[in-house]
Amino acid sequence: MLSSFPDGSRALVTGASRGIGFEFVRQLLADPRFERVFAGCREPGQAGALASLAAGEPRLRPVRLDVADEPGIEAAVAEVAAGTDRLHLVVSCAGVLHGGPAAMAAEKRLADVRHAALVAGFAVNAFGPLLVAKHFERLLAHRERAVFASISARVGSIGDNRLGGWYAYRGAKAAQNMFTRTLAIEWARTRRNVVCVALHPGTTDTDLSRPFQANVPPEKLFTTGRTVRQLLEVIDRLTPADTGSFLAWDGSRIPW
Ligand SMILES: NC(=O)c1ccc[n+]([C@@H]2O[C@H](COP(=O)([O-])OP(=O)(O)OC[C@H]3O[C@@H](n4cnc5c(N)ncnc54)[C@H](OP(=O)(O)O)[C@@H]3O)[C@@H](O)[C@H]2O)c1
Repeated sequence: MLSSFPDGSRALVTGASRGIGFEFVRQLLADPRFERVFAGCREPGQAGALASLAAGEPRLRPVRLDVADEPGIEAAVAEVAAGTDRLHLVVSCAGVLHGGPAAMAAEKRLADVRHAALVAGFAVNAFGPLLVAKHFERLLAHRERAVFASISARVGSIGDNRLGGWYAYRGAKAAQNMFTRTLAIEWARTRRNVVCVALHPGTTDTDLSRPFQANVPPEKLFTTGRTVRQLLEVIDRLTPADTGSFLAWDGSRIPW
C-alpha cells in the first residue's frame, strides 16, 4: 500500500494497454487508497486486457491518449477532468524502442540511423511525457502530495553509456531525462506539492525488451509484477528533496 498518498487518491498511467503501464494500473487498483485510476492508451477498443479489467472495476477509467498527438492529449485532459478535479500520481509509461509506423529499430551502428525513426522515438519517449505534464499540470495544482514519475531507462544516462548503439532510444531517453529535470526545477518553484522524477524500471519482460533478452541473466530480467512493486516502493518513499532526480528500481541514483 502506498502509505504516503492520501485516501481517495487518483492516478493517471500512460501507456497502460500492456507491459509495465498495464501492471501499474493493476497494482494501483489493488491499493484501496486509490479511488480512481485513469488508464491512458492509444486505442482503448483494442486494449483487451485493460477492457476486461475495467469491466469489473468501476474505479478504472480507460482514456484515449496518444502521447504523440498534442490535441489528443488536450482531449484526454478534458475527459479525465470530467471525472476528477485532481491527480496525485501520474506515471508516464508510454515508450517505444522498436517497431511502430516508422519501423524504429535498435540501431547497432551509425549507418542504421534514420530520420523517421529518430523523430518517432523522440515524439513518444521525450516529447510525450513533457506534453503530458504540460496539459495535465492543472490537475496537479492542489495542496496534497503528488508525484510525476517519468519512466525512463538507464540507457538514457550519458555518464553510464559504455556500450553505444540504440541511437534513437538513447537520445530520446536522455532528452526525456533533461526535460524531467528542467520541469522539476520549474515545479519546485510553482507546484511545490509535486515531486517530479525519472525512474529506471530495470530490464523487464515485456514486448519492448523481448528481442534483447537473450543475454540477460534470468535473475536480472524482472516480471512486470516485480518491476512495478519495486517502482511503487521507490515512489512511496519520495520526498520533496528527491525532485529532479533519476532513480533506479532499487532507489539508487543513476548518473545523468
Ligand atoms: N521493458 C524494459 O526492459 C524497460 C527497460 C527500461 C525502460 N523501460 C521503459 O518502460 C516504459 C514501458 O515500457 P514497456 O517495457 O512496458 O513497453 P511495452 O510493453 O512495449 O509497452 C509500451 C507501451 O507504450 C505505449 N505507447 C507506445 N507509443 C505510444 C503513444 N504514442 N501514445 C501512448 N502510448 C504509447 C504502448 O501502447 P500500444 O499498445 O498502443 O502500442 C504500450 O502501452 C517505456 O517508457 C520504456 O522505455 C522499459
